Amino acid sequence: MNKYEIASIPGDGIGNEVVPAAIRVLEAAAELHGGISFNWVNFPWSCEYYLKHGEMMPEDGLNVLRNFDQIFLGAVGMPELVPDHISLWGLLIKIRRGFEQSLNVRPAKLLRGLESPLKEPNNFDLLVVRQNSEGEYSEVGGRVHQGEDQIAIQNAVFTYKETSRAMRYAFELAGNRNGLVTSATKSNGITHSMPFWDDVFKEIQKEYPSVKSESAHIDALAAFFVLRPQMYDVIVASNLFGDILTDIGGAIMGSIGIAPAANLNIDRKFPSMFEPVHGSAPDIAGKGIANPIGQIWTGKMMLDFMGYPEIGKLILEAVEDTLESGIKTPDLKGRATTEEVTNSIIDHLKKKA
Ligand SMILES: NC(=O)c1ccc[n+]([C@@H]2O[C@H](COP(=O)([O-])OP(=O)(O)OC[C@H]3O[C@@H](n4cnc5c(N)ncnc54)[C@H](O)[C@@H]3O)[C@@H](O)[C@H]2O)c1
Repeated sequence: MNKYEIASIPGDGIGNEVVPAAIRVLEAAAELHGGISFNWVNFPWSCEYYLKHGEMMPEDGLNVLRNFDQIFLGAVGMPELVPDHISLWGLLIKIRRGFEQSLNVRPAKLLRGLESPLKEPNNFDLLVVRQNSEGEYSEVGGRVHQGEDQIAIQNAVFTYKETSRAMRYAFELAGNRNGLVTSATKSNGITHSMPFWDDVFKEIQKEYPSVKSESAHIDALAAFFVLRPQMYDVIVASNLFGDILTDIGGAIMGSIGIAPAANLNIDRKFPSMFEPVHGSAPDIAGKGIANPIGQIWTGKMMLDFMGYPEIGKLILEAVEDTLESGIKTPDLKGRATTEEVTNSIIDHLKKKA
């Protein structure tokens, strides 16, 4: 029996509804597998915690989390009481940067039983590997002067180490999928960092002769995500480009409530963190109608990363069986509750024994 210690941080709002739901599914999956078990340790770190203690997590929070195999997070955010930059930088960014989670992986796939807002979705199934720790989202720059003389400078930082790491990971993933990597570039407009990005891409693609590769400018790529998403397999993108592409990815799937994500430390020196794309959804929190699929699919990604893709595949099939049977939360135009969707997924999973 392989036992895993998982730190669970439900966070705020619907995080407290979808994380327990996903844990129930992962427990059922572990039972089905028979050779793995989880020990979940719950941490109440959140905006509520901040309001009581003046910090999103204790000062030694990272030291505590360091000893876990993985981190399973819901969402943080209570925008009416705590400014978003505090919740984001006080917890999420601290964990992502502190644990060198330099890759953010987000799939977008047309699930069986779901309607995409696209007229012709053509069964798209793609994966965006986004550089998660540098690029356009750097802290290098500043503002000077006043009035009409004001100047703002924001520097983008691209290191060879992190650029090549993201690209290699994309090629590795594509080798086990449909064998195509698309690089999101903009070297026709950005004259230093993007030609560098293209050069590194050309170098890394030589290491993977059996994987096809192409480059596309981000503006065209964003349009193609809407017009012909079925053409893509794995896309590797900088921090900003990946951020934008994955929002389109979530939108064409049908609801932000089903979109999963993983923040990976691929060296496995530190735990990785698995969190859905959506936030704490204060507008529906406490109503019991949050879609748990984003969190459950995120759990599937955690199992994949831990080396159990066969059981992850069964989870996604059980999700699709549930959607196909019409059991959906209101964001997918259904009438089911979080609990009803979760129960149905577990039932379908058990049938696969
Ligand atoms: N990773 C994170 O922790 C994370 C990510 C995004 C936003 N946030 C935070 O969450 C708070 C709310 O942000 P927001 O409203 O911009 O984004 P949001 O994702 O919380 O909500 C956007 C819309 O999508 C709906 N929605 C989201 N998840 C859903 C689900 N699982 N089921 C059904 N409907 C769902 C919401 O009801 C809302 O109408 C903010 O404080 C923001 O900073 C946190």
